[in-house]
Amino acid sequence: MLKCLVFLLVAMFPVAYGISIPGLNTTEPFDHVAQLDERGMFTLFWNFNSTHNTLEAHVETKGW
Ligand SMILES: *[C@@H]1O[C@H](CO)[C@@H](O)[C@H](O)[C@H]1NC(C)=O
Ligand SMILES: *[C@@H]1O[C@H](CO)[C@@H](O)[C@H](O)[C@H]1NC(C)=O
Repeated sequence: MLKCLVFLLVAMFPVAYGISIPGLNTTEPFDHVAQLDERGMFTLFWNFNSTHNTLEAHVETKGW
């Protein structure tokens, strides 16, 4: 289910692999990054292997 959601997101939004976003620190290195908002206000990082999916979402709230 979670993988289906991720693949749906990948299909809908531009995705960059292995790129770190300046100003965003993640709790661990992530293999996949998707900026889901063109202003960079919502960034999703994820890793997965055969047993685990790890998702980390960063939401920029400055300026709201
Ligand atoms: C990211 O981490 C570095 C090093 O720990 C720190 O200097 C920097 O302020 C952090 N940036 C943010 C946006 O948290
Ligand atoms: C998958 O990733 C999780 C979280 O990083 C880790 O705990 C687990 O050992 C990994 N499993 C395999 C089979 O690599």
